[in-house]
Amino acid sequence: MSVKYILQNINSKTIQANFCPQKIAKQKLACLFCILLILSASCKKETNENVIKFTPLEINTPSGFDEMTIPDDNKLSLERVNLGKMLFFDPILSRDSSISCGTCHLQNIAFTDNLPVSRGIENRLGFRNTTGLTNVGFQPYFFKEGGVPTLERQVIAPIEDPVEMDFTLFDAIERLRNHPIYPQLILEAYGREVDAFSVTRAIAAFERTLVSFNSYYDMHNANNEANAMTQEQINGMNLFFGPKANCSQCHAGGNFTNYNFENNGLLQEYLDQGRFRITFDTSDIGKFKTPSLRNVEVTAPYMHNGSLNTLEEVVEHYNTGGTNHSNQNELVKPLNLSATEKNELVAFLKALTDREFLENESFMP
Ligand code: HEC
Ligand code: HEC
Repeated sequence: MSVKYILQNINSKTIQANFCPQKIAKQKLACLFCILLILSASCKKETNENVIKFTPLEINTPSGFDEMTIPDDNKLSLERVNLGKMLFFDPILSRDSSISCGTCHLQNIAFTDNLPVSRGIENRLGFRNTTGLTNVGFQPYFFKEGGVPTLERQVIAPIEDPVEMDFTLFDAIERLRNHPIYPQLILEAYGREVDAFSVTRAIAAFERTLVSFNSYYDMHNANNEANAMTQEQINGMNLFFGPKANCSQCHAGGNFTNYNFENNGLLQEYLDQGRFRITFDTSDIGKFKTPSLRNVEVTAPYMHNGSLNTLEEVVEHYNTGGTNHSNQNELVKPLNLSATEKNELVAFLKALTDREFLENESFMP
C-alpha cells in the first residue's frame, strides 16, 4: 500500500467546478432567492444557519504521523478551503492590489520564492527567507521565532507588514465587502458577513490542506519499494539518522523538525536574532525554529537569511561544524564526512521531494 494522503470528498475536479464563475453566480442567485423567500415568509431575524453550505473535508495522515489539530471554530469544509484558496491567490489583500500570498509562496517550489529574502509591494525588501508551507498545518507555532500561535492569526501579519502587503486588515475587509463574489461565498462558508474571523479562517483552512506524504522517502518506507530510493539515497538516509551526522536529532519525526528553536552555528553575529526577538533571553540569540526538510530540494536558497545557495553548501556548513557561536547546539560539530558521504546526504535530502504535492491541481488558483 503506498503512502497517500486522502482528502475525503475532494479532488481537483470538484474544486475546479466550484470555481466556475457561472456556478458561483448561480449559487449566489439561488441563495439570494432563498434569503428573499425566508425574509418574505417571516419577519423573524434571519439566522445564518440556513445559508451555510458544509461539505466536510478530512485530512487523513499516514500512520506514524501525528493527527493535525483542527480548531473547533474552523472545521474543514470544501467551501471554506475553496474560499481560502481564492483569497490566498488574490492580490486584493495588498494595499496596491499588486501581490497575493501566492506571489511569495509558489506551489512548484513548495510555497517558497527563490529569493534570499522576500520582496513585497513596490519591490520592498523583506528581512527573511520565505518559509515553505509544506505540512504547515502541523506546525505548533509560526514564524522563525515562533511568535504566532495559530495559522488563523498568522494571516494578519503579511497583510499588515509594510514590506509585504502593506495594508490593514480593516481596509482589506472593507474592500472584500464591496466585492461582487466574496460576501456571498463567505456567508455560505461561515454563515457570517465579511469580517476578520471569516477571512483569516478561510485562508488557514486552505493552508491546512497543503499536506505532503508522498516523497520518494515515504514510498520507500511504505512499500520498501526497491526503486523508490537509490542506493546513494539509502546510504544518505542512514547517515542522516545515524550518530555520525546527527541530523535527525533536530530534523526529527515525520516532518523532519523537532519544532524547537536551535542555533545551528550559521553565523558569528546574528543581525536577525531569531527567538531572542520575543524572549529577550540572550541564550536564544541566533535560534530559529528548525525547518521541515520536506521538499527542501526545491526551496533554495536556504537558512533564515537565504545565505546558502545549494544543498551542497548546507552539508558543507554542517561538515565544518559551524561558527562556534556561544549558543550553538553541541550537535553541530565537525563531522569528518568524506566526499562520498556528503553526496549521499545531499542525495537523501532530494528523496524528500514529493512531486505529487508540487503538481497537485487542488492547490492551484
Ligand atoms: C512579501 C512576501 C510574502 C507575502 C506576500 C506573504 N508571505 Fe508568508 N512568509 C514570507 C516570509 C519571508 C516568511 C518568513 C517570516 C518569518 O518567519 O518571520 C513567511 C512565513 C509564512 C508562514 C509561517 C510558516 C511557518 O512555518 O512558520 C505562513 C503560514 C505564511 N507565511 C503564510 C502566508 C499567507 C497566508 C500570506 C497571505 C495573507 C502570506 N504568507 C503572504 C513571505 C511572504
Ligand atoms: C542543532 C539542531 C540541528 C542539527 C543537528 C541540524 N540542523 Fe539543519 N537546521 C537547523 C536549524 C535551526 C535550521 C534553520 C537555521 C536558519 O534558519 O538560519 C536548519 C536548516 C537546515 C537546512 C535549510 C532548510 C531551509 O529551508 O532553509 C537544511 C537543508 C538542513 N538544516 C539540513 C541538515 C542536515 C543535513 C543536518 C545533518 C548534517 C542538519 N541539518 C543538522 C537545526 C539543525
